[in-house]
Amino acid sequence: MKIAILGSGGREHALVNQMSLSKKTTKIYCIPGNAGTCHLAENVNLNLDNFESIYDFILKNKIELVVVGPEKPLVDGIADFLQEKKIKVFGPNKVLSQFEGSKTFTKNVCKKYNIPTAKFNILKNLKESIKYLNQVKFPIVIKADGLAAGKGVYICENLEKSNEAVKEIFDGKFGKADQIVIEEFLEGEEMSFFVISDGKSFKQFNTAQDHKRVGEDDTGKNTGGMGAYSPSALINKDLEKKIIDKIIEPTFKAIRDFGEEYIGFLYAGLMIKNNEPFLIEYNVRMGDPECQTILPLLKSDFLDIINACCEQKLNQSNVDWSDKKSLSIVLCSKGYPESYEKNVEIKNLNKIKNNKNNFIFHAGTISKNDKIFANGGRVLNFVSISESYLEARKSAIDKIKDLNWGGGFFRKDIGFKAID
Ligand code: AMP
Ligand code: GLY
Repeated sequence: MKIAILGSGGREHALVNQMSLSKKTTKIYCIPGNAGTCHLAENVNLNLDNFESIYDFILKNKIELVVVGPEKPLVDGIADFLQEKKIKVFGPNKVLSQFEGSKTFTKNVCKKYNIPTAKFNILKNLKESIKYLNQVKFPIVIKADGLAAGKGVYICENLEKSNEAVKEIFDGKFGKADQIVIEEFLEGEEMSFFVISDGKSFKQFNTAQDHKRVGEDDTGKNTGGMGAYSPSALINKDLEKKIIDKIIEPTFKAIRDFGEEYIGFLYAGLMIKNNEPFLIEYNVRMGDPECQTILPLLKSDFLDIINACCEQKLNQSNVDWSDKKSLSIVLCSKGYPESYEKNVEIKNLNKIKNNKNNFIFHAGTISKNDKIFANGGRVLNFVSISESYLEARKSAIDKIKDLNWGGGFFRKDIGFKAID
């Protein structure tokens, strides 16, 4: 089968890698890909906003299955566009991508279907928001409605910071703002919970814990993710049942009530307090770096699972996992998530070999004249599989030390809540 993976991050390198393990895969294209994907796939330099050019390429190259990595093309309707043209595509349609594309959409579903989430209010303009903020308890959480690449969420300790936040959002920092969500601050520990769905049924697709803050001990600015471990140390049978019964099942009931079918990964970002789950947000894709962390634990054939979803036969597929632990550490460009230098050469990379327990997934890399350069904030993901989180972390750190790249930094404490 000929497959196209859309995207260029560590998540997409992991998707390409997992697809390459299937005997049924004959060729993989990665659009646009990075300096890691090009070893297993053919990179194709097309813009993900240009659906027509992607369709032309698919047609010309007889591609049989398209897997969409990032949220933006999904929110913009690429699944609908390709499905109308009879192309098999893994990823939800435009209506259902609002689960990630619109915070108010998800909050309204939570309210209607009694899904546990932070108590919230939707506000339509600056004046209304400022008036409302005068009566809330702090800390309070303020969220821009649309896609904001993880940056549209403010956790505010006082009225002054809150007023600044709503002003920034309504001034258009994250694009045109017609409404915002102001919600209660939830205490607890976060967990990423994934399911995979074929439109008729869903199956669980493992759990992970992500470290979003740039600094050790989860301090400093928010990032796209500095590392993760899987499975989550918080998961247990009782919690799993609560997540399915109170959050996932009601969400699929809402989807059925909309008259829609969800095909793709659904990523529930949860807050867990006293073994009770609360939904913080939905994403309509795999997480990054959760994808890189989770996929190497998959024992079943990944292409079979994805293809079964597109053919609405997921109930005939097994989704089996290794019972080992996986941990990933992201090597970032110095300065990230603020400004950083681009086009910094990464030497020694070809000396570090992947094996069945150690993987390097590229993110912000490009290759020029047989050399590899960093061109993004998050550059490489070092993933290790082991019997324990501690051993996996040691092994990932050893590999980063072997690389010895002067242009980068990483967090040495990934998994600290489960390990230390
Ligand atoms: P989101 O983009 O909605 O995932 O929010 C980004 C991050 O902000 C989450 O991963 C949490 O760490 C934090 N966050 C969002 N909403 C809340 C909340 N209601 N209470 C506490 N933390 C939150
Ligand atoms: N790791 C967080 C995300 O993918 O949104």
